[in-house]
Amino acid sequence: MAQKRVGVIGFPVEHSLSPIMHNAAFKALGMDDEWLYDAMSIPPDILRYGIREPKNHGYIGINVTIPHKQAIMEYVRPDEKARAIGAVNTIDFRTNLGTNTDADGLIDDLKANNVALEGERVLVLGAGGASRAGVYGLVREGAEVAIVNRTKSRAENLVSELQKTAGINDVAVMTLDESSEWGMSLIVNCTSVGLHPNITQSPWINGVPFPDEITVYDMVYRPANTAFMQQCVAHGGRAIGGLGMLVRQGAIAFELWTGVKPPIDVMFDALREVLEKREG
Ligand code: ATR
Repeated sequence: MAQKRVGVIGFPVEHSLSPIMHNAAFKALGMDDEWLYDAMSIPPDILRYGIREPKNHGYIGINVTIPHKQAIMEYVRPDEKARAIGAVNTIDFRTNLGTNTDADGLIDDLKANNVALEGERVLVLGAGGASRAGVYGLVREGAEVAIVNRTKSRAENLVSELQKTAGINDVAVMTLDESSEWGMSLIVNCTSVGLHPNITQSPWINGVPFPDEITVYDMVYRPANTAFMQQCVAHGGRAIGGLGMLVRQGAIAFELWTGVKPPIDVMFDALREVLEKREG
């Protein structure tokens, strides 16, 4: 019987892939006698009480997912990253610290794929929570970042928020048309466009010339090869799906709780296996 518990809270949370990858890592490391990762569904209206449950039951820590990432900040001590990004996705109950591993998960995966960031022009598509983490991480790595979003005012709000929370200046907001001539080497899709089941949709609208020979990182990982990634490859570019970001944001949390670096490949394989089954 596992005594050391970790898990994820969300609503709904039944389809979360986090238990699969974390438990696969525990097993591969021979830690599964002691450690268990499970998913807890907590409706937003009872979050204040719901958050006490895992804490009172002796959980070491939890991940936090949709829709609680912002609201949970009230009940923990957000660290610098969480405050900058405006969201908590990982809690350590031993210290009650809340952090955010999304930005580092993205950056770790870009680096693992040898994508250059320092001094590079990087276009971010989207202006939600995922985008805010992405922009924060990319700017910290020395990239010159611009944002394109369907709703331009939301991108402008994001820029002014990041200015307040992280002291980040010089992030441009542009239209897709303008961006096609900006000369970026990398585009990071932080929108949900193209996500299963809308697999024929792309955030790069038809009629706007697709830049040649660039790199696309698509945070969407289902399907594994999105329409946006296909457009990029058809224009001589390189496309990377977002599964690695999911794995690496989880791996950072895993190490925080356990003090052990998890086997990244094992986590990847476990996810690919279930995703292939779900696609089929
Ligand atoms: P998250 O927290 O995961 O980032 P979100 O806050 O709902 O999620 O943000 C979703 C992003 O995808 C937004 O940038 C959204 O654009 P709007 O701000 O204009 O809503 C973008 N998005 C979602 N569906 C879209 C679509 N069909 N076309 C273009 N952008 C879309």
